[in-house]
Amino acid sequence: MRVPIVAGNWKMNPSTLDESYALAHEIVSQDTGNSNTISVICPPFPTLKTVKELCQNSYVKIGAQNLHAESSGAFTGETPPEMIAELCDYVILGHSERRQLFAEDDKFIGAKVSKSLELGISPIFCVGETLEQRDSDLAYSVIEAQIKSSLSAIPTNKMQQITVAYEPIWAIGTGKAATPEIAQQMIAHIRDCLKSISNDFTASQIRILYGGSVNAANAASIASQEDIDGALVGGASLKAEEFLNIIKAFSSI
Ligand code: PGA
Repeated sequence: MRVPIVAGNWKMNPSTLDESYALAHEIVSQDTGNSNTISVICPPFPTLKTVKELCQNSYVKIGAQNLHAESSGAFTGETPPEMIAELCDYVILGHSERRQLFAEDDKFIGAKVSKSLELGISPIFCVGETLEQRDSDLAYSVIEAQIKSSLSAIPTNKMQQITVAYEPIWAIGTGKAATPEIAQQMIAHIRDCLKSISNDFTASQIRILYGGSVNAANAASIASQEDIDGALVGGASLKAEEFLNIIKAFSSI
């Protein structure tokens, strides 16, 4: 049984420490816990420590939005991964915004996944195709290449700690989520790709989330799909009530 994860990717929001704390507080104080779903919030780095303190004795887990592949050194602007490990249970890696805006490639993302596993932080490894790639019938091969290039070197006994998030780029922040059927088909394909680099049992244990314009209205139909084990939520995770309703939708399956 794969316990679903609903993770809120706050991106570079909200703008101030106070607003960030207030949003976390609203979520944490209302999340009464449910053994059926793991809730994760991923706020910006400067608020991780206060949000972690807030989440102690709550059901909400903390995630970071990035992690460097090196342990320390001359990497201006980066955060030491061990510091992140002291604060976070999860980390989002390979998000399309990191790939497109910060030129992160499959190899670098794979190294980040290895580093997170070494430190005991569960990676939420994102993959996704552009609209042009989908329209050219390249979606399946693009996703397969992203998975194989970044994860082939991960030892099979570590693979189960990885969560994969399928986030079609055309669905992120557009209000146009993939249909549950499109998401299910691609996620089943992702499970096959994971099988080919590990084994049937390992692939059957790995959670695969859907992300891209998930909201309280479409969450139940996405949650009902066989292979979909949760959601990575952007915009809708910035509204406490909406985010909690998405968690409820996955808990009711
Ligand atoms: P969205 O973002 O829910 O706002 O589409 C999802 C994401 O980028 O993780």
